[in-house]
Amino acid sequence: MNDVSPNPELSRPRGEPAIRTIAMPADANPAGDIFGGWLMAQMDLAAGNVAARRARSRCATVSVDRITFLRPVFIGDEVSLHAEIVRVGRSSMTIEVEAWRRSRDGEEQVKVTDASFVFVALDQGGRPRLISPAASDPAASDPAAGGPAPGERG
Ligand SMILES: CC(C)(COP(=O)(O)OP(=O)(O)OC[C@H]1O[C@@H](n2cnc3c(N)ncnc32)[C@H](O)[C@@H]1OP(=O)(O)O)[C@@H](O)C(=O)NCCC(=O)NCCS
Repeated sequence: MNDVSPNPELSRPRGEPAIRTIAMPADANPAGDIFGGWLMAQMDLAAGNVAARRARSRCATVSVDRITFLRPVFIGDEVSLHAEIVRVGRSSMTIEVEAWRRSRDGEEQVKVTDASFVFVALDQGGRPRLISPAASDPAASDPAAGGPAPGERG
């Protein structure tokens, strides 16, 4: 996922669109570029939205892996967050998130950031809870997936 396409207009985002927003002046540093932290927050929101929908419960971010900033984002850009669940475990989900920018007055979409998030489904007490399997889940390639439910481990 860390490729920078020489023809970004030919590339397409991975996963469903989860959030689309506009980068505003308050989100920028003194040089006029958008803060990486703002973008990370949008990515976390996008992944959390997809996670809660899949798990049918509240979820918490437990890790973020290999976030890569490929291109800058500027004030006024339209920023689209795309998220795709690539692994469902017992209580956790791995979600790949990509952020794409489009200039306000243009059509070209360019990937600016990607990262891998792990979310954990939580019960009302804030403890990990089992995610019910679904036919739409990605095929299990992780040996950690599919074992006993949280709380059943010896
Ligand atoms: C989420 C939380 C309840 C998990 O508690 P825990 O004691 O680690 O729970 P478990 O050991 O049972 O692990 C639960 C699942 O998370 C996964 N997990 C735990 N830590 C992980 C990590 N660092 N990276 C990837 N996965 C992790 C486990 O593999 C397990 O997955 P599985 O059930 O699919 O097999 C706890 O870590 C927590 O509350 N963290 C803070 C979350 C938060 O506040 N996030 C926002 C930050 S501002």
